[in-house]
Amino acid sequence: MDLKEFMENPNHDALLKDLWDSHAGWWQRGFTDGVDAEYTEQIIPIVKKRVAGLRLILDVGGGEGQIARAVSEATGGMSVVVDPILSQVRLALRRGSPAVLGSAENLPFASASVDGAVACLVFEHLLELDRALSEVARAVRPDGRFLLLLNHPILQTPGSGLIDDADLGERYWRLGPYLREDLSVEEVEKDIFIPFVHRPLSRYVNGAIATGFELVEMLEPAPPDGFLARSDAYADVAAYPRLLVLHFRRCS
Ligand SMILES: C[S@@+](CC[C@H](N)C(=O)[O-])C[C@H]1O[C@@H](n2cnc3c(N)ncnc32)[C@H](O)[C@@H]1O
Repeated sequence: MDLKEFMENPNHDALLKDLWDSHAGWWQRGFTDGVDAEYTEQIIPIVKKRVAGLRLILDVGGGEGQIARAVSEATGGMSVVVDPILSQVRLALRRGSPAVLGSAENLPFASASVDGAVACLVFEHLLELDRALSEVARAVRPDGRFLLLLNHPILQTPGSGLIDDADLGERYWRLGPYLREDLSVEEVEKDIFIPFVHRPLSRYVNGAIATGFELVEMLEPAPPDGFLARSDAYADVAAYPRLLVLHFRRCS
């Protein structure tokens, strides 16, 4: 789908919000509260290790708050969920996280008011990446941190997938047009449609640098054991990173 054309549709915000609204329950049941190995074995430990000393942290697009809760546990400080979907904010509050309605592109926080921000599996769904990055850079104080976790763009490039080539006797990852930015609405499970904007890795790194961040660390971890154990077929992707973690520091 053409990103520019979609942006020109005056209803694009409402269309996207409807998708997130209708699939909030699917996310909450399938990926939170300890049921997903990629979170329990990989994402949450990675985040917890990198937030020491930060007292007030925003969990941007935080959903029902699993990252916010892990961050508060690690720091002893406060982590606040910001999400545009009411059912996510309500569940975050019920599960014990402070939470407010808001979007990454328009954070309801004053400038330089927080010590850090985390955005986990959110920014690859946003149409206006630069606006969201600028908002995070505005809210985070100088020397604060920003952890940006993404589905790795290599695996998410449209037209990519595992190819079983019987003639060659090989299974390999086919990579689609990696450098082309592209909006797709993917059916990730039956009747579950999620918007993805594919962008190359450099787009995220350079976008964040342009708003005043410097890159401190980048991780491309192998999928965790609990994920690989779900299917024999996953052994073929054991050496491909599903997750990308970019750790930034806000420059003064
Ligand atoms: C894949 S879920 C990830 C939730 C959470 N970060 C986690 O890791 O459990 C994506 C989340 O992004 C939220 N979202 C969608 N559009 C957003 C926007 N423009 N700004 C902030 N969050 C958004 C959705 O409501 C949803 O909670």
